[in-house]
Amino acid sequence: MALVPMRQILDEAAKGGYGVGAFNVNNMEQIQAIMEAANETHSPVIIQASRGALKYSKMIYLQKLMEAAVQEYPHIPVAMHLDHGNSIETCKQAIALGFTSVMIDGSLDETGKVPNTYEANVAITLAAVELAHPLGVTVEGELGCLGGIEDGQGAGLKADELDAHLTDPKQAEDFVAKTGLDALAVAIGTSHGAYKSGRKDPKTGKMLPPALAMERIREIHKRMPNCHMVMHGSSSVPQELVDIINKYGGNMPGTFGIPVENIQEGIKYGVRKVNVDTDSRLAMTGAIRKVFVESPNKFDPRDYLKPAREAMRDLVYIPRMKAFGQAGHATDYKQMTLAEMKEAYGK
Ligand code: G3H
Ligand code: 13P
Ligand code: ZN
Repeated sequence: MALVPMRQILDEAAKGGYGVGAFNVNNMEQIQAIMEAANETHSPVIIQASRGALKYSKMIYLQKLMEAAVQEYPHIPVAMHLDHGNSIETCKQAIALGFTSVMIDGSLDETGKVPNTYEANVAITLAAVELAHPLGVTVEGELGCLGGIEDGQGAGLKADELDAHLTDPKQAEDFVAKTGLDALAVAIGTSHGAYKSGRKDPKTGKMLPPALAMERIREIHKRMPNCHMVMHGSSSVPQELVDIINKYGGNMPGTFGIPVENIQEGIKYGVRKVNVDTDSRLAMTGAIRKVFVESPNKFDPRDYLKPAREAMRDLVYIPRMKAFGQAGHATDYKQMTLAEMKEAYGK
């Protein structure tokens, strides 16, 4: 089977009332770990690559790895998605590579660091839809800005600036109507990376996970029950994964993630795509550090990449697929082709 349009995976998730993990990849081990987890839990899945991932993998390698993934597991619906596309040119490149979905992140300008005007966001998102839909390719847009700047895909907003950049539900309605996009990434207080803006518990003085504007998700869902929302920055940054890194020579104090229960709450109100990258980076790094410290004589990459692949599969992908609800849904439906999706858009 070929890769499926992401729109179908999201439409089916909405019908079934579940969310689907969108996992970032840069290499073979991550793709294999995701596919093994999807096979074991019988899950449809979204695999995504950032601009950095495309550059790192020299594009063609990623394309061939994805072909291998669907060839090995033809019963698993898999969408290949461009994460945080910054221009129409990047979207074109991804589509030419065979991606079945693209994100145009018009919330920021082309540098990926400065917030855009609303009008500029509408214009570039509409241009992406006009490029992609005639080819059956899905489009994700973003309204509002995420915090953090660790990965160059956030406006670097401080906790007190975030509020002004959260997604406005009324504007979201206008944005969806004007652009005709398939999936809307919302800013509700999450950020990328392992240090999501924390806050102090006024009683104990201890740091707490970031406060999320879940009411905005509920309001958007109320206004647009059929809108598929996307939660970026959704790694939970489990303390046990960070502890492994720190135990074996790492130095990652004061990390924060998004509790899985918050994501599950979002899924009840229309979140269909849940972006996770950092958690798999943590699992992989911890497993590799462990081998290096415990077996300093080892130098065959397979000795540390195999445990790294297993750690991502068992500690991140399988538990998240179960928690988001996509587990068990791989063969609920017949996989669509891009040509069929193109026809559906035309109707
Ligand atoms: O969007 C953020 C993802 O974690 C990708 O990060 O740009 O470092 O590949 P990256
Ligand atoms: P995390 O950094 O929380 O994994 O978020 C990843 C993401 O949103 C990719 O677009
Ligand atoms: Zn993101």
